Amino acid sequence: MRKLTYFVACSIDGFIGDPNGDASSMFAFLDEEFLGYLGSTWPDTIAVQGREQLGLKGAENLNFDTVIQGRASYQLALDAGVTSPYGHLREYVASRTLDSPDPNVTVIEGDLVARIRELKAEDSELGIWLCGGSRLAGELLDEIDELVIKTYPQVYGTGMPMFGGTGFAVGDFTLEGVRTFGNGVLVRTYARKS
Ligand SMILES: NC(=O)c1ccc[n+]([C@@H]2O[C@H](COP(=O)([O-])OP(=O)(O)OC[C@H]3O[C@@H](n4cnc5c(N)ncnc54)[C@H](OP(=O)(O)O)[C@@H]3O)[C@@H](O)[C@H]2O)c1
Repeated sequence: MRKLTYFVACSIDGFIGDPNGDASSMFAFLDEEFLGYLGSTWPDTIAVQGREQLGLKGAENLNFDTVIQGRASYQLALDAGVTSPYGHLREYVASRTLDSPDPNVTVIEGDLVARIRELKAEDSELGIWLCGGSRLAGELLDEIDELVIKTYPQVYGTGMPMFGGTGFAVGDFTLEGVRTFGNGVLVRTYARKS
């Protein structure tokens, strides 16, 4: 089975954005060193406009060949006039209201967990990126095999949690790697303990 990886940006206190999901305060940390790391290590997670700006157009996918987003996260791209923000990946959007506006975007409206399990069962060297947002991650928490958490050195106090709509349950993960950056950003990789 290939992995479902929640690769996400968070505040120190575990919020992926303000109460409305806005994480623009984190953009201040996208300096040369950190952008260099993202471009060389996680090029597949950079959206189309960023890929053009960073000279990554046509860059090989290193981690993922598929991305899944909730409709609210995808809506941000639609609002910016972009129907396929991650055209270098197969794009899935969970929604019960959306008609796909792009041939590269497949809408999942039925059994989400069953569809994710089918995708995980596919034969591929590359994994599946769970992009977010909060509600989708909460629904898929039990399916997540790996967490890659970009922690920005900011405290939000309150906001949109990494996992929305979930009850309390302890899940154990093993720390597999930590990278630190001069600007105080931390990237931790955790694997689910089996
Ligand atoms: N910091 C980060 O790295 C990061 C990453 C991604 C997103 N975000 C933030 O997250 C925010 C959005 O998060 P969110 O929690 O509000 O929304 P979300 O999880 O992106 O999307 C929720 C929507 O997904 C659809 N959905 C969820 N479960 C479904 C299911 N089982 N079957 C079918 N459709 C399903 C529904 O769409 P319908 O209403 O259409 O049915 C639901 O309204 C954005 O503001 C974005 O900025 C942050």
